[in-house]
Amino acid sequence: MQRDHEPPVGIHPLLAGRFSPYRFDPSAGVDDDCLGLLLEAARWAPSAGNSQPWGFFTSRPGEPEHERVVRHLAPSSARWATDAGLLVVTLTHRHVDETQLLYSEFADYDLGQAVAHMTVQAQAMGLAAHQFRAFDLEGLTKELSPNPGWAIVSMIALGKAAEVPSERRDRRSVADLLSAPWTLPE
Ligand SMILES: Cc1cc2nc3c(=O)[nH]c(=O)nc-3n(C[C@H](O)[C@H](O)[C@H](O)COP(=O)(O)O)c2cc1C
Repeated sequence: MQRDHEPPVGIHPLLAGRFSPYRFDPSAGVDDDCLGLLLEAARWAPSAGNSQPWGFFTSRPGEPEHERVVRHLAPSSARWATDAGLLVVTLTHRHVDETQLLYSEFADYDLGQAVAHMTVQAQAMGLAAHQFRAFDLEGLTKELSPNPGWAIVSMIALGKAAEVPSERRDRRSVADLLSAPWTLPE
């Protein structure tokens, strides 16, 4: 596989500047206006048939909801995510209520786009986002008890980064993106 360790070049600064920090400034809160704009950005993401199959649970340090989420973090994410000014639990409406029938085969895909919108909006507001799966999914699902058809997928820690991006960030090359799915004829 072809790898590329060059920093991003030529793309929009909001995309080039985005990274997932492992340190957040615990003194920097996320206020109600910022939280509202992050959710507004997610709201305007495209989705299959405009189904908008996403949902969120938000909590900030000091709020009772925060402790309900934090207690389910894995040790690896608790080290940095608890310092973030905002924790967002992401959910997808994957199944038709009370059945295993798919509501939309694109539900998780669409949620990913909504989260991408949120992360770029965060970057535009001087906040950083670190998405993660290092938490007890079963425990958090029991804790929050989402409605039938809804499934927790991931979490996002958002706040003021307390570190700069690493100078050596690994990415597959553009050539590999185009060639990896195919076997070229001999
Ligand atoms: C769905 C998803 C799950 C992730 N899970 C974790 C995780 O559990 N722990 C972690 O440290 N980072 C996690 N990440 C962050 C990725 O490791 C990170 O985005 C990737 O290494 C690229 O780095 P960058 O975001 O700084 O460019 C996750 C990212 C996504 C999108």
